[in-house]
Amino acid sequence: MTARTCLVTGAGRGIGGVIAARLSADGHRVALNARGREGLEAVAGTLPGPSLAVPGDVTDPAAVDEVFGAVEREWGPVEVLVLNAGTGVSAPLARTTDEDWQHMLDLNLTAPFRFLRRAVPAMTERGWGRVVVIASVAAKRGAPYISAYAAAKHGVLGLVRSAAAELAGTGVTVNAICPGYVDTPMTGHTVAGIAAKTGRTEEQARAALVRQQPIGRLITTGEVADAVDLCVRSAAITGQGINVDGGAVQS
Ligand SMILES: NC(=O)c1ccc[n+]([C@@H]2O[C@H](COP(=O)([O-])OP(=O)(O)OC[C@H]3O[C@@H](n4cnc5c(N)ncnc54)[C@H](OP(=O)(O)O)[C@@H]3O)[C@@H](O)[C@H]2O)c1
Repeated sequence: MTARTCLVTGAGRGIGGVIAARLSADGHRVALNARGREGLEAVAGTLPGPSLAVPGDVTDPAAVDEVFGAVEREWGPVEVLVLNAGTGVSAPLARTTDEDWQHMLDLNLTAPFRFLRRAVPAMTERGWGRVVVIASVAAKRGAPYISAYAAAKHGVLGLVRSAAAELAGTGVTVNAICPGYVDTPMTGHTVAGIAAKTGRTEEQARAALVRQQPIGRLITTGEVADAVDLCVRSAAITGQGINVDGGAVQS
């Protein structure tokens, strides 16, 4: 593959760190974003190819130009954009606060919109670009206690589908990956939260999440990176929400 300039948000640990490693192993230049510099530098130190740590909070509107500007000064325009930074909150609908609702929309929906909007002009000008959003099965299916997260993830899938329709024919593809429960620190927090709220042990809480994947185990970060890799290589896949969920959602 031609070496490309990539930007991965939320690359300080978990899924984003593994996607960054995969892109680097494929020969690309990889810029890593998250809020914490330590995590970014730890991941960057393990990459086989050129890397750049660009700390910043994706929910800060000013961070968008700062992050893109840092990459452009070093390597030129971003060609592969992976919008992975995100997190979930869990609460019954009636106890979901305005703050939690707004945080879910800011992080999981508005930030991807601003990053996508910033990246697209340079991609269309060059006639080549890849955008991959790490959404969730919660982009396709609602579930108890995640209304704010699911609303934001459903929204980001709408953004992906509309952008892909608008950009088809320009050489730029836009896709979402929709994982089930992945074995990452975020799922560790979910397990701890379930255990605290229900009185179950962490093993029992984790087993309840495992049962949600018909394949009988959590998804691996490498399996999410495989799907990103497919979207980067293919010019024909666009506007998709690719489920990586062990068969839980068939759509
Ligand atoms: N884990 C799952 O089961 C699962 C399932 C489906 C979808 N997903 C999605 O996959 C993505 C990654 O999840 P994960 O499990 O890898 O999460 P994670 O282990 O918690 O890692 C999240 C990453 O995002 C960064 N981040 C968080 N808030 C940020 C912000 N405001 N600005 C910039 N970076 C920020 C974090 O670093 P800092 O804290 O240093 O900023 C970290 O590097 C999320 O969008 C999540 O919704 C996860």
